[in-house]
Amino acid sequence: MIDARLALALDGGGFVLPDDGAIAVFKPPQDAELSVLPQDRCLIIEGFKPAHDAWCARGFDCVTELNRRVGAAIVCLPRAKAEARALIAEAMEKSEGSLVIDGQKTDGVDSLLREIRKRIDIFGPIAKAHGKLFWCSADSASVFDDWRTGPALTAGGFWTAPGVFSADAIDPASDLLAAALPENLGKEIADFGAGWGFLSAHILTRAEVSAVHLVEAGHMALECARRNVTDPRAVFHWADATTWRPEKKLDAVIMNPPFHTTRAAEPTLGQGFVQAAARALSPSGQLWMVANRHLPYEQTLMSHFANVFEVGGDARFKLLHATRPKHPARP
Ligand SMILES: C[S@@+](CC[C@H](N)C(=O)[O-])C[C@H]1O[C@@H](n2cnc3c(N)ncnc32)[C@H](O)[C@@H]1O
Repeated sequence: MIDARLALALDGGGFVLPDDGAIAVFKPPQDAELSVLPQDRCLIIEGFKPAHDAWCARGFDCVTELNRRVGAAIVCLPRAKAEARALIAEAMEKSEGSLVIDGQKTDGVDSLLREIRKRIDIFGPIAKAHGKLFWCSADSASVFDDWRTGPALTAGGFWTAPGVFSADAIDPASDLLAAALPENLGKEIADFGAGWGFLSAHILTRAEVSAVHLVEAGHMALECARRNVTDPRAVFHWADATTWRPEKKLDAVIMNPPFHTTRAAEPTLGQGFVQAAARALSPSGQLWMVANRHLPYEQTLMSHFANVFEVGGDARFKLLHATRPKHPARP
């Protein structure tokens, strides 16, 4: 846990906070307390909407991107290696003092430590609670230049970025869903968890569609979607799909819902998407979704829709179609 390692680093471990300037903390885990840092100088960098809102609710300053220089920067390693490297390069460039890197063993901290050590002198590491924290001086900004990446055009012809879902290729489950969608989906459609926009772009090939709402919690994913989906009928929402509400009820919701925020499968996320879809749809609206075959969505679907059909799939994925959303009776 970062709190224990930071406390050890500051208390006799040799790490000293700068006297002034903000302390940027990139992607801290949501259960981090950061109580050893002065909260009034902390600036959290978090683009995932539910986590972003949670930091704001706790009274922290929180931004989606860092656009200024800071006194020190702390990178909490995300799981995706390319994203971790990109954050390190960005933090190195923006920090005027130290760059601190913290991560769990399961997030690859050991291999990054080996790589970084070959490039620059490091202090620490502090090893504790199945993770490591180490730091270096940020005075040689160019040392990680080759790790810097932002949105880029892939060989497939779409924009993605490190850490965005299915950044290298079209996701096979979404591909299966796109191929199964009927020609007539109605006019007002939402794509829940729209990612870089693959399904929305597909839906917008239909002339009768008047709007596709891309609802995506990942700020960077939505930035990529804005580049990929340039049709004026696309409406972009940086939002948590489980709480987002459309201005008018929808004809269809399309989704390939997320099923983990950690390594373990968390079907409750997708179940939250199903409930939100039922709420957002008009009485004649329809839900089309694709899911890994082992994930238990049917019960939630049947609680929120009168009709639920499995309409295809393959050995790995199932395609589900639900109609007649059950709206809770108004009091
Ligand atoms: C399985 S991916 C599908 C992405 C995209 N539809 C595609 O087909 O490539 C699920 C997406 O849901 C997003 N997501 C996760 N939690 C979310 C939430 N609470 N609200 C909105 N989007 C969320 C993820 O960032 C990810 O882009």
